[in-house]
Amino acid sequence: MMTAADFHQIADTLNSDTGIYLSIEKAPLVYSRLAKRIRALKMSGFEEYCAFIASKRGVEERRNMMNSLTTNVTRFFREPHHFETMKNEILPDLIAQAKRGGKIRIWSAACSSGEEPYSIALTVLSLLPDAASYDIKILATDIDENILRKAAAGVYRKGDVTIPSEAQKKKYFSKEDASGVSLVASDELKQLITFRPLNLIKPLPLSGSFDIIFCRNVVIYFQEETQRELWSKFHKAIKPNGWLFIGHSERITGPATSLFKSEGFTAYQRIE
Ligand SMILES: C[S@@+](CC[C@H](N)C(=O)[O-])C[C@H]1O[C@@H](n2cnc3c(N)ncnc32)[C@H](O)[C@@H]1O
Repeated sequence: MMTAADFHQIADTLNSDTGIYLSIEKAPLVYSRLAKRIRALKMSGFEEYCAFIASKRGVEERRNMMNSLTTNVTRFFREPHHFETMKNEILPDLIAQAKRGGKIRIWSAACSSGEEPYSIALTVLSLLPDAASYDIKILATDIDENILRKAAAGVYRKGDVTIPSEAQKKKYFSKEDASGVSLVASDELKQLITFRPLNLIKPLPLSGSFDIIFCRNVVIYFQEETQRELWSKFHKAIKPNGWLFIGHSERITGPATSLFKSEGFTAYQRIE
């Protein structure tokens, strides 16, 4: 059994570690995801589990708990208008600069299992097939180190590799083994991306660096104040006139509208 007090302890712990806010309606989800952890640890129930995660010995399990409670749903070219905007309106100038010796830096902040940064890399490669010869880097980060390992491996079920260009799919993905059930991203694709763990609610070690930040479908789990702090950190992390893409049900509102101007549905540009 999970009592209301157990739920609140778990929700508060998750909130202070990740910024994710769980309302009481999420109790069934918390129950089903953590009941598995409790069984795996051979514990008697939520009371023992809650005492454990609050103790020094429970530090590692606190991370497992966080990994179990984060939502990692994603897919290739999710919300395709961002990739179109990037390809048609942003990359042509950036690529021209890169050809003159400049750099391009794109950040997939909360990249989950990697479909987003691989889609970004494929978009760059669609305009510049020899992108690796230029100073072009995609940073892909997430708080969940398990999902990040999956992202770096780049192995996906064949049916999940929903890439609009069949030619790119053939060129940049190959069968993982003879069964052909899974495809693996090629080294040519992977070499554009660096995968790193990063918690968005902590101070960001990257300032004034990025031409484009994708931070999609993560702040929806944060409370307003946490969102506001993140918009201000992104304003510092983005280069002048740089871009920020957020998820379809997310918005920049309140005081942060002085930092970013809307340039179409869930696409924003830094205000100088
Ligand atoms: C629903 S996925 C979004 C993936 C991708 N951006 C997309 O839109 O398809 C949300 C991701 O946010 C990550 N996340 C949650 N809280 C985070 C935090 N404080 N810092 C970094 N990543 C976080 C989760 O681990 C999860 O992989």
